[in-house]
Amino acid sequence: MFKYRLIPSPRMAPPGDKILVTGALGQIGTDLVEELRARHGTDNVIASDVREMPEHPFLEDGPFRLLSVLDGDGMDAVVREDEVGTIYHLAAILSATGEKDPDLCQRVNVGGMTNVLETAMNNDLRVYAPSSIAVFGPDASKIAAQNSPLNPTTTYGETKRTGEALAREYLANFGVDCRGIRYPGLVSWKAPAGGGTTDYAVEIFHAALEKGHYECFVGPDTRLPMMYIDDAIRATLELMDAPAESLGSSRAGYNVSGISFSALELADSIAERIDGFTCDFVPDGRQAYADSWPDTVDDSAAQEEWGWKAEYDLDAMVDAMIESISSN
Ligand SMILES: NC(=O)c1ccc[n+]([C@@H]2O[C@H](COP(=O)([O-])OP(=O)(O)OC[C@H]3O[C@@H](n4cnc5c(N)ncnc54)[C@H](O)[C@@H]3O)[C@@H](O)[C@H]2O)c1
Repeated sequence: MFKYRLIPSPRMAPPGDKILVTGALGQIGTDLVEELRARHGTDNVIASDVREMPEHPFLEDGPFRLLSVLDGDGMDAVVREDEVGTIYHLAAILSATGEKDPDLCQRVNVGGMTNVLETAMNNDLRVYAPSSIAVFGPDASKIAAQNSPLNPTTTYGETKRTGEALAREYLANFGVDCRGIRYPGLVSWKAPAGGGTTDYAVEIFHAALEKGHYECFVGPDTRLPMMYIDDAIRATLELMDAPAESLGSSRAGYNVSGISFSALELADSIAERIDGFTCDFVPDGRQAYADSWPDTVDDSAAQEEWGWKAEYDLDAMVDAMIESISSN
């Protein structure tokens, strides 16, 4: 008589209920980890990054793992040891840094995304992986539709387009529930912006309050889709809370609209609130990346499928930024 022994397959690991955040020390992670810990409990949200930052609250207040997203085995081990059920995958090389080192941008953005999706497939995880408005190229209309052709001219944009394609592939072939938002430029105050083309919309506030002057690296008429961080975090959590059956073919990269303003309109709005603030516009190489992106996006799919609606307009965002930076 045969005796059977059940050997657990590596693909049968039961999903845990903890959350792993990659790239947690960056601009978005700094806000997202705080919100996730408030919702789910500090010990249930594991922050991770390829670097450590002395005195960063995440390294002292809750679980932190030093983890490169290029280390697939390391990621798998953290997921199993810490009983992770969901990954918020924020680790990436952003546009301005990525165009200076396209090879690193490819390796981290595409390689990291592949490792996250493989780990998710092997451990039955849910994934949140943001895309970007950088997936659009100059042929997209100024109000980019959800289904506009994606012909980015930057390496960063290409890696984000590939990330969306990988998410669709792992959903179709392996059932991995991976959701994403094409974030516009995000404006926040807790962490510095991380080397993107829209960093001017963050730097300008710090410069205005500290020096009363800013030299802006894009021209005054540059208009891009932007969003205040509180709206971006809420969008992220609302998308992850949405029932899977309500989500359609945009699941890997929803357009979400926030605020669309020119660099001059932003500077004027700050000058109305900070006496004597001046801004010079001295475009550099990042102008070309900005010029290749739309002014705003059509987010009707996000509105219809999971009820997206932004709350912050330009005035509310400028008030919130000045108030938060001043009091912190
Ligand atoms: N901030 C924005 O305006 C914006 C706009 C559109 C899309 N996004 C997307 O949102 C996500 C998060 O962006 P962010 O602004 O927080 O970026 P960021 O640059 O501020 O943070 C990224 C983090 O990833 C980490 N990292 C880099 N290489 C890594 C690796 N190999 N392994 C692990 N960690 C690594 C960095 O140390 C950093 O802390 C990215 O996918 C980005 O493309 C951001």
